[in-house]
Amino acid sequence: MCGIVGYVGGQNAAPLLVEALGRLEHRGYDSAGIAVVGSRVRVTKCAGRVRDLAEILPKRMAGQVGIGHTRWATHGPATDVNAHPHTDASGTVAVVHNGIIDNAAALRARLTDQGVPLVSDTDTEVFAHLVALSDADTLEGKVVDALDAVEGTYGLAVVHADFPDRVVVARNGSPLLVGVGEKEMFVASDLAALVRHTTTVAHLADGELATVTASGFTTFRRDLTRTQTTAREVDVDPSAYEHGQIDGRPRMYTEMLEQPASVERALRGRLDERFATAHLGGLEMDARELRAVRRVKILGCGSAYYVGQMGASLIEELARIPADAEAASEFRYRSPVIEPDTLYVAVSQSGETIDTLLAVEEVRRKGGRVIGLVNVVGSAIARACDGGIYLHAGPEIAVASTKALTTMFVGFALLALQLGRVRDLSVADGRRLVAGLQKLPAQIEQVLEGEERIAQAGTALAPAESLFFVGRVRGYPVAREGAQKFKEISYRHAEAYQMSELKHGPLALISPEVPTVAVVPDDELTDRNVAALHEIAARGGPLVVVTHAGVDLGELAAERIDVPRNERELDPLLLTVPLQLLAYHAALALGHDVDKPRNLAKSVTVE
Ligand code: F6R
Repeated sequence: MCGIVGYVGGQNAAPLLVEALGRLEHRGYDSAGIAVVGSRVRVTKCAGRVRDLAEILPKRMAGQVGIGHTRWATHGPATDVNAHPHTDASGTVAVVHNGIIDNAAALRARLTDQGVPLVSDTDTEVFAHLVALSDADTLEGKVVDALDAVEGTYGLAVVHADFPDRVVVARNGSPLLVGVGEKEMFVASDLAALVRHTTTVAHLADGELATVTASGFTTFRRDLTRTQTTAREVDVDPSAYEHGQIDGRPRMYTEMLEQPASVERALRGRLDERFATAHLGGLEMDARELRAVRRVKILGCGSAYYVGQMGASLIEELARIPADAEAASEFRYRSPVIEPDTLYVAVSQSGETIDTLLAVEEVRRKGGRVIGLVNVVGSAIARACDGGIYLHAGPEIAVASTKALTTMFVGFALLALQLGRVRDLSVADGRRLVAGLQKLPAQIEQVLEGEERIAQAGTALAPAESLFFVGRVRGYPVAREGAQKFKEISYRHAEAYQMSELKHGPLALISPEVPTVAVVPDDELTDRNVAALHEIAARGGPLVVVTHAGVDLGELAAERIDVPRNERELDPLLLTVPLQLLAYHAALALGHDVDKPRNLAKSVTVE
């Protein structure tokens, strides 16, 4: 949430910062701005997108040191004044900040009493004034003085006219990276902004600061003692960040279409046909430790939580270990019992979601073992876990998550298979699952080929103000994820329900104006599900049914979408993909900006 960039080197900073901000726009798109240090600090900022900033950028904004920001509003609406960077009254200091300063109200009151004029509604502005008010004689000392006064989370970058050769950055709960170039250095909150320039990157730890100059960087703590954080080559393919959009369509579309390839990557080298199992080296757990697991608890947020529910079913079905998923954002607030023989699994695309990270820290503080299912290599959650599984989905830029989720499902299937095969799962069942997993990329391709039909259904659903998404047992998390995707980008009220719960209340809402999207795989529950569809149809509720060929729906469904058959445990993945396309086409029909849904941003790094 919010994107931060910084540059120190031999090039003109302004265009470079604006280009880098464009690569971080998925992190926030309320407003954007840059500050460049020349003979003084010059700021240009505005409400709106990075392209709006590019338009108002002065022709001559010389300076080889600067910072930039793209905002997702926390304190104060998206206005020019609330856009970052924020400055002190004299315009000597400029600050960009990601996170929340919890005691901003008290600090604002104190500054106002001191006669300091505050011009914005933001929490960040106070920080610029605090830096300016410090009488330390180095920029590092001034930033530390300001940090001593603030409580909260931050990833921030500061420039100062009296110290024109440097950017000082600090991290506490919000990601910050330093990128090392040839006689130039970069700062960013996300690798996406850096890879075009460098893949030699240092991740700051919480509580760490860094001074970044053209010749290098040094890291230190708030007491100014040096730390030894070094830059390393990160294992990413910069070209993966350059993927163009197909026919100028939204990034989400490209990412949905990448799923056969990303699922293939998530499986690569991890299946063992001979022993009918999976090998997940990153788990760092031997067979004895895997056998000792008595319970699995999955923690994730939003869509990652819903895939976590699918994962819990896979683990219970294949490994016969009690498993459940919980919203990581709730977990630590309810004083959870942490059991030594429970395996905790944190699942996250970005690896930076603060709620999931704090849940991981809570488990570890209490002595639990946590593994991560994470996409972004080297991210905070990946580093905080005891081991884990990288998803290899490639960079996911669209705010609505698609390809990361399908690789999460694969990660859970592999974990369930490995856990199962050191317990009761038979060779025959292991082989069945290995073969099923191998078929997935081609079957996802098949689902995607049916786009035209799904597009029709999505377009037909678009006018409905309110919809239900229903599924039973394995199908329920699929319905939850389907509803999530739909509401996120179409802004329609889409509510997920267990199929069997409808008649306990929500059936009262069913009418010809309220369609239902039903998930009805061909499995042991099909008859019960079809009976529930009759109950909906009898109340005039239009039905879109995602199902398998051969399931007899009679005249029940206005639209049916058939997905290929695989092993029933793997059905949720193939049932999820058409729901992504359904949401996408409904949103397109409504004319929404699919990649930048209102009020949202990628990677939620504030509580
Ligand atoms: C939905 C979506 C969000 C994320 C959630 C967790 O499309 O993208 O619900 O799934 O914010 O994000 P990560 O996986 O980065 O922890």
